[in-house]
Amino acid sequence: MNKILSVLKYKKAENPPPIWLMRQAGRYLPEYRKIREKFPHFMDFCLTPEAIETVTLQPITRFDFDAAIIFCDILILPHLLGQKVEFIAGKGPVLEAVNWETFLEKGEKKNLLGAFSPILQSIKTIRQALCKEKSLIGFIGSPWTIATYMVNQKKYTEEVFKFYEENKTLFKRLLTLLTDQGSAFLIEQVKAGCDTVQIFDSWAGLVPLDKREEFLWGPLEKIYNKLQKTFPKNCPPIIYYGRGVYDHYEELEKRFPNLCFGVDETVDIQDITLTQPFQGNLDPEKLLSQEFIKDTLFIKEKIKGKPFIFNLGHGIKPNTPLDHVYQLVEIIRK
Ligand code: CP3
Repeated sequence: MNKILSVLKYKKAENPPPIWLMRQAGRYLPEYRKIREKFPHFMDFCLTPEAIETVTLQPITRFDFDAAIIFCDILILPHLLGQKVEFIAGKGPVLEAVNWETFLEKGEKKNLLGAFSPILQSIKTIRQALCKEKSLIGFIGSPWTIATYMVNQKKYTEEVFKFYEENKTLFKRLLTLLTDQGSAFLIEQVKAGCDTVQIFDSWAGLVPLDKREEFLWGPLEKIYNKLQKTFPKNCPPIIYYGRGVYDHYEELEKRFPNLCFGVDETVDIQDITLTQPFQGNLDPEKLLSQEFIKDTLFIKEKIKGKPFIFNLGHGIKPNTPLDHVYQLVEIIRK
């Protein structure tokens, strides 16, 4: 039986809850670092099927998590749309300057199916290698979160609001482009074999309240509706991970009856009143020391009887000790 789908699709409370970790394939794993070394450019790594397949399965082999998440990055979309993305050690992503008029005009006409093919091919191979009991999660970044990187050309800064104020029409077109191309990408990931999808909205909480409908929920609704329409009988569960916007989840539950939620570490697990399936929310900082044990036991106790997946509140840190991850899985399954 697939425990992730049992929780997300059939809304069952599994005991013990299934577990996977955001950024579970990454630098805290020595076997990841070994392959990573071979690629001077991170985006080349994200587009090489053998590398994607190996790295996606590494955390499953090591920790026996209940789900694999396809190895890629949310910034692959701007990269494939023609805004080159580089990752600089210690600095994070750097995106090239573009002429927005030309970029949007070209992007709106682009069919990225061919460009997605190394990733889609990998999904097919991984699905065959993975036993039926394990889920394969596909993902995209939310239009807003990706747009912040594209406009700033690096990690989030206030620049994005200045850009919006000065170029409202362009910014709206950019969100529409990312919504349309992003949902097309997500749909292809499902067709290739992903049984669950996640939308990463890491910078959601920075949007002012009066812009959340336009920047966040409107685009989310379009993506949600496109998936429901494409797979009317068998739509995969959609997990919305919005950092810093837990306060809206109750209204989102009403608006999107099939949406599942990723809860960040700032939310107290005792305060969660969601009725739809959710995942979270151990603070990844806690996993650096033995402190995670107390918090994990607490979460495990509080979510009894709820359709819940154990995860972190944000991505695992590169300096996380492997021993702690082994222990974490053991505590959850005990
Ligand atoms: O979860 C997984 O294992 C799947 C792969 C995955 C990566 N990034 C691999 C990656 C996923 C789902 C992401 C999502 C992602 N990427 C988000 C949303 C989640 C979050 O953490 O908020 C964001 C904002 C990005 C953009 C991004 N990619 C940044 C800011 C960075 C640099 C981070 C850093 O710590 O340097 C990346 C690079 C990245 N993406 C790495 C990995 C494993 C590290 C790159 C390396 O190996 O050099």
